[in-house]
Amino acid sequence: MVSAEAGIERVLWTEAEVAARVGEVAAELAADLRALPEPAVVVGVATGALLFLADLVRRVDAPLAVDFVRVESYGGGTESSGKPRITADLKVDIAGKHVVVVEDIVDTGNTLSCLIAHLEKKGASSISVCTFLDKPARRKVDIQLVGDGKFYSGFECPDYFVVGYGLDYAELYRNLPYVGVLKPEKYKKDSSN
Ligand code: PRP
Ligand code: MN
Ligand code: MG
Repeated sequence: MVSAEAGIERVLWTEAEVAARVGEVAAELAADLRALPEPAVVVGVATGALLFLADLVRRVDAPLAVDFVRVESYGGGTESSGKPRITADLKVDIAGKHVVVVEDIVDTGNTLSCLIAHLEKKGASSISVCTFLDKPARRKVDIQLVGDGKFYSGFECPDYFVVGYGLDYAELYRNLPYVGVLKPEKYKKDSSN
């Protein structure tokens, strides 16, 4: 039997540390959303953001709608293609709405920049970003928020390829309840991707 954690070199944030920090971010976000004149639309970026989104919104005591987009940049490798593709779009009309984009990680910034431009075209009145992890060491594109949008972040992530709590390598490891560093031998074979 092979356990899900067989490829993990070390744990960066335990399940308890994740839960505590998500609670803090949720409280910060809730205070801001309660001050808005109308419900915000929380937009999760599938697939990576699903676990964070689910834990976050149930702790946000404010009226809000939840919707999803799917954006893919990494395919099966560890390097951004630099060309994110929006492969599933919103159901909710966000024209004139305050939007909070929820991500698992901001790495190069390519995914969010592409998505923010897309959501801005749909007429959002503000766009905030709430990311579980922020990896500024790898940033290639600055994140431009829209209107009164704010940037919320759970943890600053060191420059390792991390998995768990929604983050994958080749679609695996998302189900780990903590965040860990993947053993390099797990991805060395295709590091040229
Ligand atoms: C990952 C991650 C973010 C994005 C961040 O998504 O979930 O969405 O990359 O990287 P960037 O800042 O360099 O663009 P991925 O393309 O792996 O799709 P997934 O969410 O389905 O895993
Ligand atoms: Mn993603
Ligand atoms: Mg991925």
